[in-house]
Amino acid sequence: MKVLMVCLGNICRSPMAEGIFAKKIAQLEDWTVDSAGTIAMHAGDGPDHRAVKITRKYGVDISKQVARQFHPSDFERFDLIYVADRNNRDKLLQLANNQEQRDKVKLILEEVMPGSDADVPDPYYGGEEGFENVYRLLDEATDAILKRYVK
Ligand code: 4NP
Repeated sequence: MKVLMVCLGNICRSPMAEGIFAKKIAQLEDWTVDSAGTIAMHAGDGPDHRAVKITRKYGVDISKQVARQFHPSDFERFDLIYVADRNNRDKLLQLANNQEQRDKVKLILEEVMPGSDADVPDPYYGGEEGFENVYRLLDEATDAILKRYVK
């Protein structure tokens, strides 16, 4: 299964989701993970230092990731596209060409709170506790993804 994690800048939430999930699928064959942002502003940048710090605390190294913008070809390259929030879901749904592409796009917290339409809060303008909260949400959501598809 090829999984893409998507947020706005690809420097906070989706790199964390990629790193957390990459660690969990390391021993699994046929699983890959990548991440992207819906805006180009941070393309080429490394993750936000607060995201690097929080994930490192839990044994996840995201320091070598490089941000990129989502490209419509990603709809064909990936099987599952998990978005951090409804704004970014709406942006991807606008870019999608057909129902098969639209069906790949899911809010990541739907895996733990089905039907809630819940967003992973954007931690960019807040403090470190926001990144802790994002870590916890993404850890739970990535566990739930594996439980759904693997176990
Ligand atoms: P992310 O966080 O979408 O989780 O990577 C943000 C990163 C950058 C900005 C906003 C959110 N920004 O406005 O530059």
